[in-house]
Amino acid sequence: MLSVNQVDVTESHPRTTGDCAYDLLVSDDDLVAIELVAAALEGEKFRVHGVSNAQAGLDFIARSKPSIVLLDLVMPGVVGMELLERILEIDPGVDVILFTGHYSTDSAVEAIQKGAYDYLTKPLPIERLREKLNKWLEDAHVRQQTRQLDEQLLQACRLGGIIGHSPLMLDVFSKVRRIAPHFQTALVTGHTGTGKELVAKALHQLRSGDSRPFVVCNCAAIADTLFESELFGHVRGAFTSASQDKQGFAEAANGGTLFLDEIAEIPIGIQPKLLRLLQNREIQRVGTSRPKEVDVRIVAATNQDLRAMVKQKQLREDLYYRLSMVEVKLPRLADRKEDLPLLQHHFLKMFSEKYGKSAFNLTRRAQALMAAYSWPGNVRELENVLGYCCMMTDKEMIDVHDLPEHIRHNSLSLDENEELMSMEQMEVKHAFRILGRVGGSRVRAAEILGISRATLYRLIERSSKNLPGSTEEAPRVSKTQSGGQG
Ligand SMILES: Nc1ncnc2c1ncn2[C@@H]1O[C@H](COP(=O)(O)OP(=O)(O)OP(=O)(O)O)[C@@H](O)[C@H]1O
Ligand SMILES: [Mg+2]
Repeated sequence: MLSVNQVDVTESHPRTTGDCAYDLLVSDDDLVAIELVAAALEGEKFRVHGVSNAQAGLDFIARSKPSIVLLDLVMPGVVGMELLERILEIDPGVDVILFTGHYSTDSAVEAIQKGAYDYLTKPLPIERLREKLNKWLEDAHVRQQTRQLDEQLLQACRLGGIIGHSPLMLDVFSKVRRIAPHFQTALVTGHTGTGKELVAKALHQLRSGDSRPFVVCNCAAIADTLFESELFGHVRGAFTSASQDKQGFAEAANGGTLFLDEIAEIPIGIQPKLLRLLQNREIQRVGTSRPKEVDVRIVAATNQDLRAMVKQKQLREDLYYRLSMVEVKLPRLADRKEDLPLLQHHFLKMFSEKYGKSAFNLTRRAQALMAAYSWPGNVRELENVLGYCCMMTDKEMIDVHDLPEHIRHNSLSLDENEELMSMEQMEVKHAFRILGRVGGSRVRAAEILGISRATLYRLIERSSKNLPGSTEEAPRVSKTQSGGQG
């Protein structure tokens, strides 16, 4: 439990500085420490406030929503970790930097897991504090820019309903745009939830506009015995229950696009007739021998390996070649995590409007957890998760505890065998890991890490001073990586 003693020295400050000052609260029972910070940050971009007890700090945070709290983890009568939790409960968006004389790796790791932004050890190293705050300023600048950019990007980086700005998705967009004016048949492949139906709709819209029919035939949802009649139609009396003529999906799509979803489910007996449709644009209703011409573009979609199905004789080879001549492959979300912020922004906006909520943002911690998750259900899973979060929260920011358990516990716990290292060492190690993954491109690495290139340079430089624990060899950094100037 928190026990508090009511001394608020907020009025003894604030001291400010430049025009766009951020509010910074120092919560420390040691008034000298507060003075020290206030004096040190004079002339910087912070308006410094001080409180010498926990309750005054909590009140100030609730009332004034400062950007940063410098929190002494050890104050009389207060359990520091509980106080950290209370602060983040009141304002999940605030960044808390801890300082403590009773430093241990365990409590630092625990604090970071609980959502602290960073930590420092006492006696307060003013130079280190300045460095951390400079890094924070860079992060804040990037975050602010990102928020503004997200909105602009959202308009620019979409094709129909498909949103993305990763290189992989930009390739998809360019392919779809090139195919759309000319294709007769196209195949869209990709894992579940990657947006295959959205691509089919985009191909249709770019080619035929909204006034022409877009007809969906879900091959997995039709019984084998009804397939032919559903796809090609029938005439009256063709079978017992055929009391009148009926148009099939292919005819209904005349002039527009027929979307054959889950094409792998198409019964082998129907495949020659589908081939005829693909080759000659001809169909034959069940119960008649007269072929009929249809003017349709066909988009088929699957998450199955059609080539393997050919080998297993479940799919005719000639049909496979006809279908797969023009193929759009969709990448998994795990392979384009750069798209996460934009997709998150899009879905939060969408669900907030739908449910009448104001949850427009994710905390940095929630974002980090989501970025670490593998998203096996791809964009659909992301959409469902954010829809659920929006429905359940009444706050402006979605935080870690709003996320489903499997995402929360995905990367939160320290592996037993993982070496104990400081945040600083972890940062360097992680930066090199990402640099390795992107072939040494600093532009791409900085983008993925969500930091500026300048910060990344500093991290690399710091590693050359041989931090203990940064055991990974630095990958060579090339200046000619994709994205240009590395
Ligand atoms: N790039 C994207 N931008 C915005 N929304 C997307 C994107 N990709 C998928 N979605 C959304 O995710 C959900 C699933 O998309 P879609 O139905 O197109 O996936 P699919 O690949 O056809 O999945 P399945 O194989 O399970 O049928 C939809 O609600 C869709 O709007
Ligand atoms: Mg689908």
